[in-house]
Amino acid sequence: MEQHDVVEVIHAKRDGGRLSDSQIDWVIDAYTRGGVADEQMAALAMAILLNGMDRAEIARWTGAMIASGERMDFSSLSRPTADKHSTGGVGDKITLPLAPLVAACGVAVPQLSGRGLGHTGGTLDKLEAVAGWRATLSNDEMMRQLEDVGAVICAAGDGLAPADKKLYALRDVTGTVEAIPLIASSIMSKKIAEGTGSLVLDVKVGSGAFMKNIDDARELAATMVALGQDAGVNTVALVTDMATPLGLTAGNGVEVAESVEVLAGGGPADVVELTVALAREMLAGAGRDDVDPADVLASGKAMDVWRAMIRAQDGDPDAPMPTPKETHVVAAPSSGVLTRLDALSVGVASWRLGAGRARKEDPVQAAAGITWHARPGDSVVEGAPLFTLQTDAPERFARALESLEGGYDIAPAGTPFEAAPLVIDRLS
Ligand code: URA
Repeated sequence: MEQHDVVEVIHAKRDGGRLSDSQIDWVIDAYTRGGVADEQMAALAMAILLNGMDRAEIARWTGAMIASGERMDFSSLSRPTADKHSTGGVGDKITLPLAPLVAACGVAVPQLSGRGLGHTGGTLDKLEAVAGWRATLSNDEMMRQLEDVGAVICAAGDGLAPADKKLYALRDVTGTVEAIPLIASSIMSKKIAEGTGSLVLDVKVGSGAFMKNIDDARELAATMVALGQDAGVNTVALVTDMATPLGLTAGNGVEVAESVEVLAGGGPADVVELTVALAREMLAGAGRDDVDPADVLASGKAMDVWRAMIRAQDGDPDAPMPTPKETHVVAAPSSGVLTRLDALSVGVASWRLGAGRARKEDPVQAAAGITWHARPGDSVVEGAPLFTLQTDAPERFARALESLEGGYDIAPAGTPFEAAPLVIDRLS
């Protein structure tokens, strides 16, 4: 590999130039091996955030991150594979009902997931609220479970895109997460290395998402779809609302309980709508658009797969969710119609209650979280519960309540309310 001077690479991007293929390959390889220091990579990440990268640079950067580790291969499975990735939101428990639903429709779902950082929750943190459930599987265990059960949600092994693992942790503490080239290459390097046959991206937009406006969300979606297609992965993106949190819960055990309600044929309408919409896209991507996931959800087959999937990873699907040491109820201050519930306020409140972590080594509380008793458009009655907050550490209530202040609006009864669409756009 051709050698470069890291300071020259930083200068090139700082001054608005483009990085050559050789510079990109070298800097990712050297950083992964420890030859480029964290402060140098942080400077480069900030230069990328400020000056951007073109499509060819992003593709090369993604390829270099894939090449930093192993690639998985599911082509020996007897069924096609499909995966979904969400860019992260509040109350976004969709993976939990979605993976077993798609598996129940005949498509295998290898769902390598992460932990939450900041106000967005992590799928593994939620599932760890299930007694006994184990996030770490060997590659052999994963293949066996995909063949036998059809769905696996587990931690990505250390061998998958190690450059991203290191770079993501660095971006998190250097204010460089929100760069479209870096988000797109981070997500797609892991998904391409994972080796799924098709991929559906759920790109969130709104206060609770990384992308706060629709133009940025569309650009991120288009960048990721192009990266996937170029790598031979059938990739589609839905741009979906994250101005309002999903469902009626945010946290760990509370989100598992809500997901089980969806699998049982109930649950909040928006969670069901998005689960079915994403399932349709995954099935179409895997060549199984002959199956209607709404019918399969109603049949109870997805619940059977959920139970088998939890059991296969040593979890007890019948164990009750952990109960919090303390709860606090916020009553509606007036009667009327709830016209706004802000995803970021709810996400930060849940995080402050202990559902999320401030540093990546922090533990999370399985029972921490928040339930809201109305969604935008619903009537509320003065004095009736609006939010229930739960935590094992009651000193956390005050800061969580601060976050909810100003996070919702109640208008007089009869005020017209028009719900914003949940699925805003589709890119393929
Ligand atoms: N999720 C990722 O995996 N990477 C990012 O950069 C942002 C969200």
